[in-house]
Amino acid sequence: MSPDPEQAVFTDYDSFAEAYAAETESSLENAYYARPAVLNLAGDVTGRRILDVGCGAGPLLESLRDRGAVVTGIEPSAKMLALARKRLGDDTPLHQGGLGGAPLPYPDDAFDDAVACLVLHYLQDWQAPLAELRRVLVPGGRLIVAVNHPLIYKMLRPEGDYFAVEEWSDEFTFSGRTAVLTFWHRPLHTILTEFLTAGFRITAVSEPPPAPEAHDVFPDLVTSPSGSFLGFLFLVLEAA
Ligand SMILES: C[S@@+](CC[C@H](N)C(=O)[O-])C[C@H]1O[C@@H](n2cnc3c(N)ncnc32)[C@H](O)[C@@H]1O
Repeated sequence: MSPDPEQAVFTDYDSFAEAYAAETESSLENAYYARPAVLNLAGDVTGRRILDVGCGAGPLLESLRDRGAVVTGIEPSAKMLALARKRLGDDTPLHQGGLGGAPLPYPDDAFDDAVACLVLHYLQDWQAPLAELRRVLVPGGRLIVAVNHPLIYKMLRPEGDYFAVEEWSDEFTFSGRTAVLTFWHRPLHTILTEFLTAGFRITAVSEPPPAPEAHDVFPDLVTSPSGSFLGFLFLVLEAA
């Protein structure tokens, strides 16, 4: 059944917003891996108008703003949005909404960059959301994405079909609170083809190591012999 575009289903972050935000403030996967990787790919953002879609409690918005970007956040969970508001104060535009439902509440060509950090893997259908992101970006604007690395699915679900688009769920503990997250796995060729079909050019693909400080904070951290860490796949796409 294809999703009703007016009835997007959002993984319900409202029920564990505070626990998620507290845990990921300093977690290996978020604070020492996903966020540094996204910021590194973004580079110099001075003066750039950046939309953070699925901004959660706003840690990336804050870092991008501190680096001189003009930031806007959008997030479906009211509780996550309230945490972002508390973090960012009243001057940052923050809106409730997301990808896969109603159109984004922004005019065409409104942003130089968009960031979707750990968001797209919640969506079954990517084409309408990617069309919306492309619409709000200026031609040549960048979409910076972090998604579950497709190999993770096969590692956690050996019985799963790597080559298919499949829904899967897992239980996570955030600050002692248990939550079930439901994802859509896509194989690598499908991830890349989605962006190409939606009119993006792939300008960077990254499987980076964690931030160097991660080894001091997490002395038991195991990386590959070359120093990398398998968790997420990072891409920079250019709106054609
Ligand atoms: C793993 S959290 C990441 C939050 C933030 N991007 C970060 O890196 O800290 C995923 C976020 O995506 C939001 N989300 C879930 N479904 C979404 C959708 N369809 N469109 C936009 N955001 C969505 C969730 O509410 C949650 O805040």
